[in-house]
Amino acid sequence: MSDLTLRLFRGDAQGGEIREYRVPVEEGMVVLDAVLRVQSRQSNELACRWNCKAGKCGSCSAEVNGRPRLMCMTRLDLFPEGEPLTVTPIKTFPVIRDLATDVSWNFETNKRITPFTPKADADWKFFQHDVERAQEFRKCIECFLCQNVCHVLRDHDLKDAFMGPRFLVRTAGLEMHPLDVADRLRYLKDEGGIGYCNITKCCTEVCPEKITITDNAIIALKERVVDRFYDPLTWLWRLLTGRRSK
Ligand code: SF4
Ligand code: SF4
Ligand code: FES
Repeated sequence: MSDLTLRLFRGDAQGGEIREYRVPVEEGMVVLDAVLRVQSRQSNELACRWNCKAGKCGSCSAEVNGRPRLMCMTRLDLFPEGEPLTVTPIKTFPVIRDLATDVSWNFETNKRITPFTPKADADWKFFQHDVERAQEFRKCIECFLCQNVCHVLRDHDLKDAFMGPRFLVRTAGLEMHPLDVADRLRYLKDEGGIGYCNITKCCTEVCPEKITITDNAIIALKERVVDRFYDPLTWLWRLLTGRRSK
């Protein structure tokens, strides 16, 4: 196979540039292999985050020819032979150096979600059909590709007002758990900013775990928020019965 022209962002928070490298390509190589080859043979100080090389740790997120991808799961033969490949850091989070970004905002956002809260006398026996809906949300590997592509965070930088699709997925998993009794709907409406999502489905398109983020997590949560805060019949029912819908 011919050599690859790999164009990599090199720089830090102050700025940077795209630099070109020539990398020999072998059968079966993925983008991460090419990046690591540059790191080991041409530029030892190249910063690049990775861990499992198996699509499970969520560390190697980057933009490959402008599309958010896991570098370790993106084969080079996906792209036309002979054409250069450009790899840049995910855009939504600040660059630390080269391909490594500071994703700590996500971990701070995560801490604000009320954790799993079982009722005191919970019967811990439950069945597959009880957890069927929430199970796919547990596949998340926290690659933050969905956070990266969501225009509310990426283009409008509304990180103070919107938790983003990854954390709507986590909240959906908690809200749909059969043993959980916490109430996160007001948080979703006020601090979580679920109303900012206008269901473009870009997050679902890039999820490497194929989680149906928009249809199964976000829309379901939006329906619960609307029922609780904006449906006059539900409001009247709650007023008369003193009960709350979950
Ligand atoms: S569907 Fe909502 S959360 Fe997903 S990318 Fe679009 S606006 Fe963002
Ligand atoms: S929901 Fe999908 S795209 Fe988003 S962080 Fe989890 S695995 Fe990544
Ligand atoms: S190195 Fe772990 S997901 Fe790519």
